[in-house]
Amino acid sequence: MNLLVIHGPNLHLLGRRDPEIYGSATLKELNAAIKKHAAASGARVRAFQSNSEGEIIDLLTANASWADALVINPAAYTHYSYAIRDAVEALSLPAVEVHLSDISKREPFRRVSVIKPVCLAQFKGEGPTSYFKAVDYCLGLKNKKGE
Ligand code: DQA
Repeated sequence: MNLLVIHGPNLHLLGRRDPEIYGSATLKELNAAIKKHAAASGARVRAFQSNSEGEIIDLLTANASWADALVINPAAYTHYSYAIRDAVEALSLPAVEVHLSDISKREPFRRVSVIKPVCLAQFKGEGPTSYFKAVDYCLGLKNKKGE
């Protein structure tokens, strides 16, 4: 199982950005933990972070044929990027949405996800565990070879 993990804008600041909301782990530490979690089940991970909507769409496109599933934290784009929504839908890659914080309990603008309708599941509010649960969900899906 090949998993594409995409982190959206400002997640490069993890560790120093609102640690009371997003935790103390850096992006590097988070990616290492995701890879370790996935590797324990024999899955491979390609992880990227981008602050740009167009670059996220280019990363999705470039890695879609390699990936069996997508784990995406679209960050602030969650709430308004129809472009990323359309890309996820167009690539027909099984997708799972992730958030470190519980967006349903924060400011009203964060309670809306335009990405959720094109995802199979959403995990939120559990810090890095949200990602681990998304990985586990993807591992429950069949890969492209039907394995
Ligand atoms: C976030 C929640 C978003 O509202 C916010 O813009 C982020 C991070 C999260 O992981 O909790 O950048 O996606």
